[in-house]
Amino acid sequence: MEEKRYLTFALGKGRLANQTMELFEQIGITCEEIRDKNTRKLIFVNEAQKLRFFLAKGPDVPTYVEYGAADIGIVGKDTILEEGRSIYEVLDLGFGKCRMCICGPESARELLQHHEQIRVATKYPHIAKDYFYNKKHQTVEIIKLNGSIELAPIVGLSEVICDIVETGTTLKENGLAILEEVCPLSARVVVNQVSMKMENERITRLIRSLKAAIQ
Ligand code: PRP
Repeated sequence: MEEKRYLTFALGKGRLANQTMELFEQIGITCEEIRDKNTRKLIFVNEAQKLRFFLAKGPDVPTYVEYGAADIGIVGKDTILEEGRSIYEVLDLGFGKCRMCICGPESARELLQHHEQIRVATKYPHIAKDYFYNKKHQTVEIIKLNGSIELAPIVGLSEVICDIVETGTTLKENGLAILEEVCPLSARVVVNQVSMKMENERITRLIRSLKAAIQ
């Protein structure tokens, strides 16, 4: 059957997009244009397979997918949790593995145990709020930052942080430690809810191939 409509993929810029394209190549989905590291193009097409790819900032991927501007998105679980969009999460790709953790100096450990009113710096206020309010039932003050979160407890902005830990190097080099683990994270495939119905066959086939490739 002829496949007329483009399937559009939104990929989180950076390492995630590169790993995704490597995986896609294993299942026969290629896009020559996207490999050109010097290009300023924003959208890449595979005419033969009727596929389009675009690169977006991670937090914007669920937005594009919710509104149907992309049928499929590849994005970290952290972003999915933080953005809380109405999208289907259909597959764990198994790469980009890391953990969302509450970190700080060892001295802050007991502040967490005694449910003290503390300040938590984070790029992920929704995840932090859900963890402290709904899971731990601890009232905290959440301070939103945009990066280099580990600075906050060092310079006295907050007692702890809620942040991603991958290798643990950033923590170690700054005299901080994991105090509690919030949840494991990795790259996920998300799908627009209407696309899932309208393009069910193509999307299901794609998910099945991806599953087989990562096993
Ligand atoms: C992430 C995260 C930690 C670091 C963890 O930051 O926020 O800072 O990586 O990695 P590690 O455990 O391997 O040291 P990122 O590099 O994305 O930059 P940011 O701090 O500006 O958000």
